[in-house]
Amino acid sequence: MDSMNEAGVSNTIASPGTETTGIVKNDGSCIPLRKLGSFEIPAIITGMWQVAGGHGTIDVKKAVNEMKLYAFAGLGVFDMADIYGPAEEIYGMFCKEYWGSKPIRGFTKFVPRYGNSGADTRPVVEAGIDRSRKRMGVATLDMVQFHWWDYSDRRYCDAMKWLYTLQQEGKIKELGLTNFDTEHMAKIVEDCGIPVVSNQVAYSIIDTRPEKKMVAWCLQHNVLLLAYGTLLGGFLSEKYLGRPEPRRPDLTTSSLSKYKYVIDQWGGWALFQELLLALSQIANKYRVSISNVAVRFIADKPAVAAVIVGARLSISEHIASNQAAYSFPGLDEGDVALIQSVVKKGSELPGDCGDEYR
Ligand SMILES: NC(=O)c1ccc[n+]([C@@H]2O[C@H](COP(=O)([O-])OP(=O)(O)OC[C@H]3O[C@@H](n4cnc5c(N)ncnc54)[C@H](OP(=O)(O)O)[C@@H]3O)[C@@H](O)[C@H]2O)c1
Repeated sequence: MDSMNEAGVSNTIASPGTETTGIVKNDGSCIPLRKLGSFEIPAIITGMWQVAGGHGTIDVKKAVNEMKLYAFAGLGVFDMADIYGPAEEIYGMFCKEYWGSKPIRGFTKFVPRYGNSGADTRPVVEAGIDRSRKRMGVATLDMVQFHWWDYSDRRYCDAMKWLYTLQQEGKIKELGLTNFDTEHMAKIVEDCGIPVVSNQVAYSIIDTRPEKKMVAWCLQHNVLLLAYGTLLGGFLSEKYLGRPEPRRPDLTTSSLSKYKYVIDQWGGWALFQELLLALSQIANKYRVSISNVAVRFIADKPAVAAVIVGARLSISEHIASNQAAYSFPGLDEGDVALIQSVVKKGSELPGDCGDEYR
């Protein structure tokens, strides 16, 4: 029997109840599809923060072509934001050129300006949504995930009501949140009465903040999680196994800088090497990679709809290697126990989801 944490959440890997069919790839393995609102999305989706700058120079034409390959491989749900540089425009170019039969989706975010000026008014919210529609070249945005900087400014409810109005008017298909903590996600849904299908939060082997309160709330209210940071910007891979601790100049992307800080908060580089070693033992057992194990560890957790794996489009490509995350049956109790025996030597990250943004 698996163990339960304080939130009553199972610590072993459980199949989400929302799974539907699978995308069968050439070698017979499959990435499951899961229901998220009115969509069926694969358990792995593709993140586009990496085209926003700070991750190397993007070749747009090559990036668009690579997105087609992601889509052909069943990884054609792309996560972006109005603040991710050219991401929405690149998605728009991709949509114009894509002719494949595998479904594609563009999930974006509405991130009000710092200080939230005007975000409680229809003109400002509508202008933001119209700008995303124009850049992405779609009449209806598949998904808008709402971010808010400052909970002491309670206008988040007004902003969300305008997004809901625009959804009713057909400009948005599904509404979600990003980086909301449990308390304020509950306020949006229960007090403001706005139905959201998801919250996008950091969730990885060493950042299990969602398990404190959020997962239990999500399961009760039928809201799912889209997990990011699951590969810690690439640190959870063979590339860093047995490597000396990176110095500041070695942190060549914004995500490596971001997640090195998370590793340090949790337990530091020596303990992280112990974790990579344990993950590599499990990976070898299933003939997959450390990244595959890290993705499955989170993707199959309760309340998780999908893991967002960032792609440095046109610079580095991990299509087949990410498909392989579903080429094995999944982690068993012994695997999970081994991972947790190392994880618990570190410190639990403080606070709730998204606290680092406030
Ligand atoms: N809501 C928010 O505040 C927020 C914040 C951060 C991210 N996100 C979303 O989440 C996405 C993920 O970004 P992230 O920063 O969290 O990064 P991540 O997914 O943890 O890491 C992405 C990096 O992992 C490496 N990688 C990917 N697949 C791999 C594989 N199969 N094997 C080995 N290495 C692999 C790649 O590194 P190389 O390119 O070096 O090969 C890639 O750039 C973003 O694009 C964005 O959509 C949202």
